[in-house]
Amino acid sequence: MPKDIKLLVTRQFPDDVLARCEQDYTCSLNPDDANWNGDDLLGRAAGHDAILLSSNSKFSADVIPRLPDSVKILATFSVGFEHIDIDAAKAKGLIVTNTPGVLSEATADIAFMLLLCASRRAFEADNMVRTGQWSGWTPTQLCGPGMQGKRLAILGMGGIGRQVAQRGRAFGMTIHYHNRSRLPADLEQGAVYHDTADDLMAVADFLSINCPMSDDMVHFLNEDRIGRMPDGAVVVNSARGGLVEDAALIAALKSGKVFAAGLDVFEGEPTVNPAYWALDNVFMSPHIGSATVETRNAMGFTALDSLDAYFAGNEVPNRLA
Ligand code: DGY
Repeated sequence: MPKDIKLLVTRQFPDDVLARCEQDYTCSLNPDDANWNGDDLLGRAAGHDAILLSSNSKFSADVIPRLPDSVKILATFSVGFEHIDIDAAKAKGLIVTNTPGVLSEATADIAFMLLLCASRRAFEADNMVRTGQWSGWTPTQLCGPGMQGKRLAILGMGGIGRQVAQRGRAFGMTIHYHNRSRLPADLEQGAVYHDTADDLMAVADFLSINCPMSDDMVHFLNEDRIGRMPDGAVVVNSARGGLVEDAALIAALKSGKVFAAGLDVFEGEPTVNPAYWALDNVFMSPHIGSATVETRNAMGFTALDSLDAYFAGNEVPNRLA
């Protein structure tokens, strides 16, 4: 790799990822881990050939046309790419890549953490012990719905959804799913396909949202769809916050229509709708789906593999544009 290729590295990525960046490229780093966006980002992009970015940096239809012509490729350290306007990138002739596959297992683990923590009331349980309010075991203390024999409804049966399904089978759940298209039998592994998302809602004793964000999926989980779910359902979202209409979920958590929710992602994050804070039946985590050491390294290496391929004149893996 010619060392004179200039790479703008927009966040403080893991040490092993930064080491590989610096070994192969002439890098501009962000040691303060500031969240560069807009004019700040554009100013820093000047004179660079490529940008390694995270989902914090918005490459919108306003920003992309103003990128310097020297920038040829954007490699995002994420599977999600709603922060990049792909049409605008194509119009400018920019290559865009992401990191599918390498974070499916870690994210499915977090979806299961949320399913367990929501249904088994982990927030209340921890709080009871931590604040000295536990006066001893009782037959009815902190009971929640068990998973065994229940229907796990998975919205989005890509790599992450299929890993959630695998974990659900191990917990004795029956797997139902909706996806843009039905999977072949070897990937479906007995899961029940529902043609429409609304049909899926009707069997969602437990709902795991694992689909990508897109304009037509904004506030997918709204009052109407929650109304179609069985009473006392458990809802978890480890995909993107905007897939859930917070007001509708909060109302359902208050009424008991939804027994509990587990949320790793939030619309407008890191801002969180404060109504969630007052609810004991919501378990929250700060967008940590892919946060294992191994996974975050793999995401960085996958993004760098795409950059390396581009600058070596080879076919670019994981290309979105
Ligand atoms: C992803 O890879 O999309 C994660 O949510 C981090 O942005």
